Amino acid sequence: MTHNLPVGIAGLGHAVPDRVLDNDWFTQFIDTSDEWIRQRTGIVERRWLSEDETTSDLFIRAGQMALDRAGVKPEEVDLIVVGTVSGDYLACPASACIVQDKLGCTNAAAFDLAAACTGFLYSLQVARQFIMTGTHKNVLVIGGEGLSRLLDMNDRNSVVIFADGAGAAVLQPHETCQQGLIEDITLGADGAGYHFIIRPKGGAKEPVTPEILAEGTHLLRMKGREVYRFAVDRMSELMAWAMEGQDVEDVGWVFPHQMNRRILETASGKLNIPNEKVYINIHRFGNTSAGTVPICLSEAYGNGELEKGKLQILAAFGAGLTWGAARVRW
Ligand code: UT7
Repeated sequence: MTHNLPVGIAGLGHAVPDRVLDNDWFTQFIDTSDEWIRQRTGIVERRWLSEDETTSDLFIRAGQMALDRAGVKPEEVDLIVVGTVSGDYLACPASACIVQDKLGCTNAAAFDLAAACTGFLYSLQVARQFIMTGTHKNVLVIGGEGLSRLLDMNDRNSVVIFADGAGAAVLQPHETCQQGLIEDITLGADGAGYHFIIRPKGGAKEPVTPEILAEGTHLLRMKGREVYRFAVDRMSELMAWAMEGQDVEDVGWVFPHQMNRRILETASGKLNIPNEKVYINIHRFGNTSAGTVPICLSEAYGNGELEKGKLQILAAFGAGLTWGAARVRW
């Protein structure tokens, strides 16, 4: 058995809710403005789940699209990995199991992976190992969130940026799909920064009580300004890792986590990566955490914008703190 089979991306898909919220919508809850949000984040509108939707609905739609585009039948999938921190249930059961059932992936194992905004990059690397070792042939990787359900409507920093959406990729041995060669992936973490983006209470450390519910400390909190500095540094380091020994002419797209337009422009500017090579859709979808990178990739794929032979760079940073990047040769 070989242990380093090259791995390719056979298909990509994505899904966002139909419910669109513009910036003005938030002025009914917090002291903010369309102008502030556009200038400080680049967000114009975002999608939030409607009442009758769940996060796994997005995973299922994104996963089905990726399978269709890859020409893979549900029963041919042997593993599903979902990168998320806002699945349907409190980690038990895994959302990947809901996806496995609803998509009819009767021969697949399934589990979730929690790496927040880096969830897709972490999941991609884990899934890739199963193909590299030759034990699995079709792995469905999904990254996405329904974070709107976990936001504190009084936290100005987080409520205006986070949103809902999911993206998916089907991984296969590269010799099978002949596209999207994953050349390399790097991952990292610094748990000393665990408290910067956190749901402080309601977990096993401090199980939920009526007091916790009343104060809302089971909801997501972010220290935006502190995270900002880390995000710029890490994103530029990740892009530098991906660009090492590469020619900028050879780069098709950089697909960065859509956390804040200013962060992306500062990070890519430090490396002289032209803005027109940096894929941005934060103005339409906001920050969907684990969803941003695969949604961007899937959009570009659907629009025929992934040029054969070009290098595609993926980079993400988020809660944990965690980070990761990938070089994919299309
Ligand atoms: O995806 C995971 C990783 N996440 C990130 O990378 C997020 C990184 N952080 C950010 O994107 C930004 O820090 C935010 C968009 C969250 C905030 O932008 P900022 O430019 O860092 O604002 P700030 O927190 O430094 O606040 C500046 C001012 C403050 O007012 P004063 O104290 O100067 O009077 C805030 O109270 O802006 C105020 N402010 C707001 N005003 C209107 C903070 N949030 C808002 C808001 N609307 N939503």
